[in-house]
Amino acid sequence: MKLRTKPLVSIAALLILLAFLVVPGIFMGWNFYPAAWHAFIVGPRSRPLRDAQFERTPQRRERGKYLAEGVLACFRCHSDRDWNLPGAPPARGKEGAGHIFTEDGRPWLVAPNITSDSETGAGRWTDDMIARAIREGVGHDGRMLHPLMWYGAFHDLSDEDVASVVVFLRSVPPVRNSLPQTRIPLNRRLQYADLQLPITSPVPAPDLSTPQKRGEYLAGLADCVGCHTSWYHPQAPVFAKLFAGGNLLEGPNGFTIVSPNITPDPSGISYYDEHLFVEMMRSGKVKARPLHPIMPWFWYGKMTGKDLQDVFAYLRDQQPIKHSVDNAEPPTLCKLCQEKHGGGDRN
Ligand code: HEC
Ligand code: HEC
Repeated sequence: MKLRTKPLVSIAALLILLAFLVVPGIFMGWNFYPAAWHAFIVGPRSRPLRDAQFERTPQRRERGKYLAEGVLACFRCHSDRDWNLPGAPPARGKEGAGHIFTEDGRPWLVAPNITSDSETGAGRWTDDMIARAIREGVGHDGRMLHPLMWYGAFHDLSDEDVASVVVFLRSVPPVRNSLPQTRIPLNRRLQYADLQLPITSPVPAPDLSTPQKRGEYLAGLADCVGCHTSWYHPQAPVFAKLFAGGNLLEGPNGFTIVSPNITPDPSGISYYDEHLFVEMMRSGKVKARPLHPIMPWFWYGKMTGKDLQDVFAYLRDQQPIKHSVDNAEPPTLCKLCQEKHGGGDRN
């Protein structure tokens, strides 16, 4: 008896081990596989921290402030906001002090306090801890950061620009505000495991020789494409059509809105000119029509006219896609993006 069960037990153990190794690959796709195992056993993909300190020059502080309060909109998430004011700016005195995002009253995501407070903020983190968090998605303590920290978009920040942001953050007045930490469930950690991209060689400034190229850098950092593209319905005709809109976005208190088409098609923003574009970013209004503050115009509106014109030049270069979204009308089902939005039945 003993002689016969032993091999059976070993075979069963081997099969269980094989299933354990193979099943996650089948469900998550083989591309994710190595990163997912790495995340499960070791932690997020990351590089060792460097000991260097960024020189604190006034130029860097100024450039960092311009980027962080403008195109990168850091305090859009890292602050409580005043939703009663146009554009929902950070609440006074809370800039960078962090924010707890809740769903049905329960906290699920925490944007930490990144002011220079040494007890509850970033005061004791090294420059490289902050730089690595911004571009590579790994926290000061080595944990995987939730991708709603926009390190995917910030990954392309040049070394000089990320240094500038860090130098600026060091100058943000400390605010004492102790917050819990985000807990990403294990299945999500595995799902996000290939989003952290360690940077191990220098990142020079990109080619900034034309308005379109400068606009591409800025629009990439702002992740216009992330919000203004439909990503969740693979069968939808405008799925992954860049800038064609159709992305259902969630705001505070369960409010939802579908992002509009910003391609140069007549159903998009072909009627915009440079002047209207800059005016919209500055005022949060398209002529008399106000835009919901989920569109971060409050921050982008702080960019220089020239930078905004470059972003517009880049947008103008995109492929026109037909898809009307008019949030001023009542929502109806749209067969192009498979969401319910104003003017959906006209598509
Ligand atoms: C869209 C929202 C959003 C934006 C924009 C954003 N962050 Fe974050 N950030 C988060 C969230 C959420 C976390 C926490 C994620 C987690 O704990 O898993 C985070 C984490 C961080 C951390 C890591 C903190 C730690 O514990 O180590 C740093 C540093 C940071 N953000 C800095 C910035 C800076 C600087 C900017 C602007 C360049 C920025 N963030 C823009 C949402 C955002
Ligand atoms: C966090 C998501 C988000 C990001 C990031 C974002 N937008 Fe928007 N945007 C929206 C939403 C939502 C609206 C619709 C607001 C409304 O209809 O009230 C909008 C509206 C607009 C409009 C107005 C279109 C019209 O109907 O006239 C333009 C133009 C625009 N965005 C351009 C941009 C550009 C350029 C960027 C990047 C620099 C950008 N957006 C980044 C969510 C976003």
